[in-house]
Amino acid sequence: MKDMKSNVTRRNFLTSAGTAALAVTATTALAADTGGGGNTLKILGVACSPRKGMTTAKAVQAALDAAKGVNPRLEVELIDLGGLSIAGWSPTSIKDDFDALLPKLKDPRLGGLIIGSPSYFRSLSALCKAFIERCMPLREGTMALADKPVGALSVGGNRNGGQELVVQQILTAMLSYGMVPVGGKSPAMLGGTLWNTKDDVSQDETGLQSAKLLGLHVAEVALTLALKNA
Ligand SMILES: Cc1cc2nc3c(=O)[nH]c(=O)nc-3n(C[C@H](O)[C@H](O)[C@H](O)COP(=O)(O)O)c2cc1C
Repeated sequence: MKDMKSNVTRRNFLTSAGTAALAVTATTALAADTGGGGNTLKILGVACSPRKGMTTAKAVQAALDAAKGVNPRLEVELIDLGGLSIAGWSPTSIKDDFDALLPKLKDPRLGGLIIGSPSYFRSLSALCKAFIERCMPLREGTMALADKPVGALSVGGNRNGGQELVVQQILTAMLSYGMVPVGGKSPAMLGGTLWNTKDDVSQDETGLQSAKLLGLHVAEVALTLALKNA
């Protein structure tokens, strides 16, 4: 028992030491890679609630804020789809608000995505599905999103309202773009799962923490993959 305990302690130590070493290596190499200058790696958050600025957007912003704290070279930006018109995929040409978002998604500085959706009937929102379908042009040519990390979070009105299912649905869909699905750091291994009470997630400490742990992990993986692919 004593041995097991010391093993676990040692394992925990090695894990955290490894994580710290990874972060330092990535930070140092990225600084060198960018010559200490203006080059940045960008993490985009996409909030897929039709209600602009509400709990999903707040949760994605919390994840982005945590991501930003990982390395000064990281830039974050929230795309709030609330109020935008995003049609699903169509065989004929579409006039909606998606085209204005394309340059941000094609930006070579894009390091990773964090996609958030409310849980609607234990599923991702229609807006989220439409956004994912409209990313189809990003599957052409060099597959702009390929080999970049994607994390997901979901907010529900119930504590167990299908958030984990929504996260899984988003991550599975993004595999079609060659993205690398990433969960949060322990204990939020799957991603962000938040509980909205009275249009507020600020009281859901565990849920907010899961969003932050997701942001941290997406940022770390983005840095590591960017260096590897440089
Ligand atoms: C059409 C609809 C379906 C919903 N279905 C669920 C559900 O299955 N599970 C759940 O926990 N909450 C459900 N909700 C509540 C929303 O997920 C919750 O209010 C969420 O925080 C909304 O995100 P927003 O504040 O960013 O708009 C539903 C809300 C709507 C409008």
